[in-house]
Parts: sequence; C-alpha cells; structure tokens
Amino acid sequence: MHISVMGELDSKAEADRLLECIGENCGCEIHITFLDANIVTPEVVEKIIKLQENSKCKVFVLKSYLYSYFLSLGIKCFLVKKKSILNKRCEISEKLSSRSFEPEKVEEFLRDIYDKYGFDFTEYRKDSIIRRIKISMLRYCMTCFEEFRKLVLTDQDVFEQLFLDFSINTTNFFRDPEVFTFLKERVLLCLDSYSHIKIWCVGCSNGKEPYSLAIILKELGMLHKVQIYATDINPYVIEEAKNGLYSASTIDTDIVNYKKAGGTKAFTDYFDITGSYIKVKDEFKDNILFFQHSVIEKGILNEFQMILCRNVMIYFDIPLQRKVLRHFYNSLDVGGFLVMGKSEGMLLNGGYEYFVDYNEKNKVYRRKS
Ligand SMILES: C[S@@+](CC[C@H](N)C(=O)[O-])C[C@H]1O[C@@H](n2cnc3c(N)ncnc32)[C@H](O)[C@@H]1O
Repeated sequence: MHISVMGELDSKAEADRLLECIGENCGCEIHITFLDANIVTPEVVEKIIKLQENSKCKVFVLKSYLYSYFLSLGIKCFLVKKKSILNKRCEISEKLSSRSFEPEKVEEFLRDIYDKYGFDFTEYRKDSIIRRIKISMLRYCMTCFEEFRKLVLTDQDVFEQLFLDFSINTTNFFRDPEVFTFLKERVLLCLDSYSHIKIWCVGCSNGKEPYSLAIILKELGMLHKVQIYATDINPYVIEEAKNGLYSASTIDTDIVNYKKAGGTKAFTDYFDITGSYIKVKDEFKDNILFFQHSVIEKGILNEFQMILCRNVMIYFDIPLQRKVLRHFYNSLDVGGFLVMGKSEGMLLNGGYEYFVDYNEKNKVYRRKS
C-alpha cells in the first residue's frame, strides 16, 4: 500500500486521518510519502517507528526539515531529490564562496521578502544573512543573485527553505549549564516570593531550553506557579517543541550537562525513554505555552519577572538589538531579570540605558526602575 500525504500534517485531525489510513492496511508493507509536511505529530512518529520495528514501513520525504527530524528520532527515510542537482553542487560552491554581494541589493531583497511574506529580516546582521543566502543558492545550484531573488519572491517553497536557512536553531538541554546553576541559586529563588511567575523564553528553538528551565523549577518546587511563554519565529521548531520528542543520541551529554547545572535527580526521570528517542513527560507541558512569534513584532507581551533571550540577538544588527532591549524593558516588571547568551551583552548596543548588571559572567541583567 502507498500513502501520499499532501499539505502540512500538524493538526490532530489530519494526523488522525493518516493513522486511520495506516490502520486500514491489512498487514502488508506500507510506503508513505510526505510531499509538503515539515513536521508531524508525536502519534505519527511513534506509529511509524512501531511499523519500522517490524520492517513494515518505508518512508519518503520531500522536505529536508522533516527528513532531518525523522532521522534524529531514528526513523529510516529517503529524501527525494533531483540527482542532477547533487552533481553540480561542488563546482557552484566554489564560485559562490568567492562572490561578494552588494549590501544595498541584499537590503532591498530583505525588504521585498518582508513586503511579500511578512517576515522581517531587514535588520539581521548582513554577514550572517549573506552566508545563509549562499547556502540556499547552493541548494538550488544557482550562482546569480538576481535570479535567486526572483525565484524566492515568486516561489513560496523556495522562500520557505531560505527562511529555514535564516533561522539557526542550534540548542541543547541545559546549554551553558553554569547559567542554569546561577539561575537556580541566585534568580529563581528570588522570585519565589511571587504567587504567580511569568517567564518568557524568546527564540526557544525546539524547546530544549524551556524544558530545561521547567525541570529546574520542578526541582525547586516552583513549577506549579510558573507560566513559561516559549516563542520562536520558526513555526516548525515550535511544533517540534510541542511534540517534545528528541533524539536519544545526545543523552550522555544531556546527563552530564544536567548534573553540571545542579540537577538533583536523574535527567532520565523526566523523560520516557524509547530506543532511539526520548519523550518529555506530559507534566512539563502544562506550564509551557509554545507559540510562533517574532520578537521584532510590535505586539506587547508584558509583566514578566524573567526573560531568557539567549543566542538570538547575535543574529541582529546593533540598532535592532537596541530596539529589542527596549522591548524587553517594556515587557519586564521593575527589577525583572533578563538572561542573554554567553557571547552577547549590553556593551555595544546601549542596553545599559535600560538594564544594570546582575551577573556579567552569566549574562544576567536586571531591569532599571
Ligand atoms: C541559536 S537558536 C537559540 C536557541 C536557544 N535560545 C538556546 O540558546 O539554546 C536561535 C533561535 O532564535 C530564533 N529566532 C531568530 N530570529 C527570531 C525572532 N525575530 N523572533 C523569535 N525568534 C527568533 C531562531 O529561529 C532560533 O530558533
């Protein structure tokens, strides 16, 4: 039996329909092709893994995002690609790496993207954006920026791939563990006097950062009174975060970082461990609200006691960093905490107008009154 899945498969109803189709199959081998989906629900992931355990299912995907997601969770799958494209790559890569792009043309391109698709990258750092554009051009074997520009602005799929190239989602459980130790000992306990605590995790990627925070809060006996808002510009990492399924391949490092972060129990207490993947226990999901949101958008989220925005602002130019810091100032209670990434800070972007140092080593700041 062959099932072709068209469109995104991120709603429960669509996922249920696929599970029903699979269920109707009378025990023979199934081939499933995902044509447009970038992400699928945990039920679909778990069903495919079960079928593959009995060698009953072959999976084909067209989107590289879903391909990487499936592989990370231990699903064997094939990425469907045009062969001719693969062969041309090396030669194009050399041409592109030496090419310089006119900054004005890149700025114009980013403005066009904003007008057409509503995503604002106009104030992201140009060196990083140009590197990402080159990666995307390589994907399509293109060397002419003007042609690529036209393609992105006329073909939504090409834009979507460029968007994914712009959004760099590297993250870990308990990333920079000493920061979590510091938060535990010197920040979260300060907030314990509040009856209700609101925390905003900006650029939360696939959720490992807010789940790490939730684990620490649970161990402090504070989780029940905390609401974490976890947001990211990229809608697919948000769906991954809601799924709460992660590769088991990094578990040794996760355990080490959890211990270094001052974890008092076992990292594995908080997950259901199944062969190739781990699944966050449902109890953590009740206190975390995941949603897609760009921190550059105008709308105000406010009255937070703490904001984590780690390893996001490195991609912004200095004026944008300043705007975002003012936005955080408006979103925090007086004395509220802001936590930035280890290579970020307040020196160059005028952030000290709004914040004072609380602990520079761990990049923790407090809102001025
Ligand atoms: C390198 S990851 C950092 C993840 C996590 N905070 C950490 O430190 O492990 C940066 C994340 O910021 C997100 N991002 C980039 N621009 C954003 C924006 N304007 N609003 C919200 N998130 C954004 C990206 O999609 C990506 O998931």
